[in-house]
Amino acid sequence: MNKERLQIAIQKSGRLTKQCIDLLSNCGVKVPIVKDRLIASCENMPIDIMLVRDDDIPLLVNEGISDVGIVGLNVCEEEKLKFKKDNDNEPFSICTSLKYGKCRLSFAYPQLWNKSKKSWSQYLQNTTIATSYPNLVGDFLKKNNIKANIVYMAGSVEAAPRLGKADIICDLVSSGSTLLANNLVEGEIVLESTAVLIKNKTLSSENENLVNRLVKRIEAVQQASERKYILLHAPRKSLKKICDILDSESPSIMPLEGDNDMVALHVLCKENDFWDIAEELKSAGASSILVMPVEKLLP
Ligand code: PRP
Ligand code: ZN
Repeated sequence: MNKERLQIAIQKSGRLTKQCIDLLSNCGVKVPIVKDRLIASCENMPIDIMLVRDDDIPLLVNEGISDVGIVGLNVCEEEKLKFKKDNDNEPFSICTSLKYGKCRLSFAYPQLWNKSKKSWSQYLQNTTIATSYPNLVGDFLKKNNIKANIVYMAGSVEAAPRLGKADIICDLVSSGSTLLANNLVEGEIVLESTAVLIKNKTLSSENENLVNRLVKRIEAVQQASERKYILLHAPRKSLKKICDILDSESPSIMPLEGDNDMVALHVLCKENDFWDIAEELKSAGASSILVMPVEKLLP
């Protein structure tokens, strides 16, 4: 391993892998990923990508084997709590939150669970809870004055109630289909999570600079992914109304050759909003509406 190159750890295979590779590639970090190879060297920047198990990433970053890591906040917070038991200082720092890998760590109860008791904290009282996140769950129980027994399971946590290993589980929920398939109902949320970028606390100044550049690029890519570039034709007389509908960040307005009544309008729009306003735009007289992806958005 070349210590002069920035080492970035990402998940080898799993829910974050593809999006991590896509994000890095959109940030100009071109990585030739070779299946089953631990390290991939970036061709155009002094960066190596380490492909490892997601649960190992906080530890690798903490020990400086990897300078930076992309991992779910869930894994990150669990490892932080584990680390804090023996140490006073924070093990690593979170540079930025990413917009993918959304999920939540939630309690889930069997559908047939007796619902005679009053509050959720009473439901949890004196139960046995299966989880891969014993520290986060323990912390949550302690903060809420709940006494319960935690059983650690590395995987297949959703099977624990059926196997008689636990009454309740606390596991990641994304689409909810795993819970549904196992006749479990989601309860209280312990943690809302997305992927995050973490870094070791003692980076060389070169690597610190490189990480800062990378974070700026990530922000530019993420901002762009939320926007669409819209081009449309608008009747001059409806311009004010159309600009109001677009709630635009200063649109560019251009005349159309040979047509005094219509103008062309270019504007950035939040993607989520677009379908909501498309029909409004049409009825305000907009036509030839073109929606284009934005690759990067630099402030
Ligand atoms: C998580 C979790 C559930 C599933 C939930 O596993 O343990 O099994 O995802 O997702 P859903 O709500 O979309 O069904 P993950 O894929 O992260 O694998 P791992 O637990 O083995 O790391
Ligand atoms: Zn995992």
